[in-house]
Amino acid sequence: MTHNTEKVKVSILVSGNGSNLQAIIDAVKKDAAHPIDIISVISNKPDVYALERAKNHNIKTHVVPHGDYESREAFDQAIHQTLLEDKIEYICLAGFMRILTEGFVNKWPGRIINVHPSLLPEFKGANAIKQAFEAGVNETGCSIHVVTPEMDDGPVIGQAIVKIEESDTLETLTEKMHKAEHQLYPQILRRFIEERD
Ligand code: GRF
Repeated sequence: MTHNTEKVKVSILVSGNGSNLQAIIDAVKKDAAHPIDIISVISNKPDVYALERAKNHNIKTHVVPHGDYESREAFDQAIHQTLLEDKIEYICLAGFMRILTEGFVNKWPGRIINVHPSLLPEFKGANAIKQAFEAGVNETGCSIHVVTPEMDDGPVIGQAIVKIEESDTLETLTEKMHKAEHQLYPQILRRFIEERD
């Protein structure tokens, strides 16, 4: 809380559509006093729409194709190097579909934030929306959490509940979930950065 007015340098890691990236960009762009500067967007896949979104806002992009590396460690090292070159301070995962190694996560303690589409600790892992839908629960939601080496396990810093109605299909639920994520992620991210040590 004793920080000066210099903006915090953030990189956003993506693998796909980038709608959460867009929500963060929109929140940052609409407030000149926003504490975050989105320095770069890194994708493990070329040709994903998230990269277009970044380019549309003149944000630097990097493609680090995971298939080019012989191990997870080597891939993570390439990501780490890219982050260092950009002088990044905090990392946001936004639909980034690679599991980061313990070695990587430990180099960024308390500095990686993720969005997961469930009320953690419920429904960890892939297809969390479908898992909740098929479990027949009457509410699910999304979580923003700090990343630790164990997948979807770090401290939760924000959650939003999404009700599952009788009339919901997996598609309508998915739509509601994305809406909730787009509201929650920028808001919690901002608070997290403002309240950082
Ligand atoms: C989101 O549902 C997020 O919770 C999950 O992956 C999805 C990414 O969507 N981790 P997008 O690429 O941000 O549109």
